[in-house]
Amino acid sequence: MSTQSRPAVLNLIGNTPLIEVTRLDTGPCQLFLKLESQNPGGSIKDRVGLWMIEAAEKDGRLKPGGTIIEATAGNTGLGLALVAQAKGYRIILVVPDKMSTEKILHLKALGAEVRITRSDVCKGHPEYYQDYAARLAAEIPGAFFADQFNNPANPAAHEQSTAPEIWTQSGHAVDAIVVGIGSSGTLTGLTHFFRHASPQTEFILADPVGSVLAGFINHRRIGAVGSWAVEGIGEDFIPPIADLTGIRKAYAITDEESFGTARALLRSEGILGGSSTGTLLAAALRYCREQTEPKRVVTFVCDTGTRYLSKVYNDNWMVDQGLLGRPVYGDLRDVISRRYEDGAVVSVSPQDTLQTAFQRMRYADVSQLPVIDAGHIIGIIDESDLLLRVQASTSHFKDEVLTAMTDALETLAPDAGLDALQRTLERGLVAIIAAKTKFYGLITRFDLINHLRKQYS
Ligand SMILES: Cc1ncc(COP(=O)(O)O)c(C=O)c1O
Repeated sequence: MSTQSRPAVLNLIGNTPLIEVTRLDTGPCQLFLKLESQNPGGSIKDRVGLWMIEAAEKDGRLKPGGTIIEATAGNTGLGLALVAQAKGYRIILVVPDKMSTEKILHLKALGAEVRITRSDVCKGHPEYYQDYAARLAAEIPGAFFADQFNNPANPAAHEQSTAPEIWTQSGHAVDAIVVGIGSSGTLTGLTHFFRHASPQTEFILADPVGSVLAGFINHRRIGAVGSWAVEGIGEDFIPPIADLTGIRKAYAITDEESFGTARALLRSEGILGGSSTGTLLAAALRYCREQTEPKRVVTFVCDTGTRYLSKVYNDNWMVDQGLLGRPVYGDLRDVISRRYEDGAVVSVSPQDTLQTAFQRMRYADVSQLPVIDAGHIIGIIDESDLLLRVQASTSHFKDEVLTAMTDALETLAPDAGLDALQRTLERGLVAIIAAKTKFYGLITRFDLINHLRKQYS
């Protein structure tokens, strides 16, 4: 085996499958999904990582032993880190501090050096992630700043790989392509290719509500910037490399619809996509259903949903964000974050050991657990109950929960009202919502804050 050969993983980038949606209502159209989630780094950005690095190698901006630098909140960093590791470059990524732990761990596991910076500052501030990365690139000898927002190799990746793949896989018949915009590399690369190959192919923008891009396409004006939870697409400015001239129409999609559509895709077609896949698919389905003639439409599964298991695919998180509906009772049960009836309460039985109680608290990141016996709450065990026991002797980890729990419970009936809840919480207690023997769930101060936040937004 030669160490000089091109690392095999790089040959897995691109040539992703194009498959037809068969279970969702696509009106008179055929809808196809390009599975960018199948790239080895799990997203469409592997292509961009490879193209930017190889373009810099070709024109001498990146030399053996050099350092790659990028400011990134997501998939581009993973794509660059994958290629950098395969090719033996040092890579430093400047990431805003709101980036998910999973992504940071993935970057570090790939050997990237991660510099966390503030996400609450704007362009021009020395700690703004792009300014920080540009400064590092200027300071480190032999550094190459990938700069996807201004790097022509970004759209070139799509013009030279994504677009011709779609053209071939579709049998040279595509009426419309639905895309999202982050840096706009995908859109710009695709439009440049199709302008020559198939000028009649329409481009449709899928944009999160809160981004300024959809308003700009549909009304030619930049509206007020909002916030959105979908990752990877939507902007508060028009990206410098964006060529928006080919876009016929834009759909603004709410987080709720995006997340719901990503979940529907998994249930109906068995495809696990990320949050932006939900936005693109929601827009593509709307477009398809609005057509009066049969059309062949393509959109993307931009990245893998495994990156979003704790968000899009986590009912608790979805409920906390107000993105998943559940029955409304008009009483204190509405304030409970994790309802017992939904199977969402992490609990212990009286016969479980203290070790089990500790492990459940740790995994669920809670400081107390209800003790449930045959559907009834018979006690509460919290971290001070545990500490008191095991401090005396660690052998107590083997003891039953029954021996350490608090069983003098004060409960609140669902109709006790917010004032009663506040009084309970002010005494430093967690509120136990139960009627006679029926247990509904716990309410902590944090749950009440979250409930109030949902009413505010
Ligand atoms: C997660 C994700 N990243 C990136 C992109 C593409 O963005 P860009 O405009 O940077 O090519 C998309 C596009 O849909 C996306 O969903």
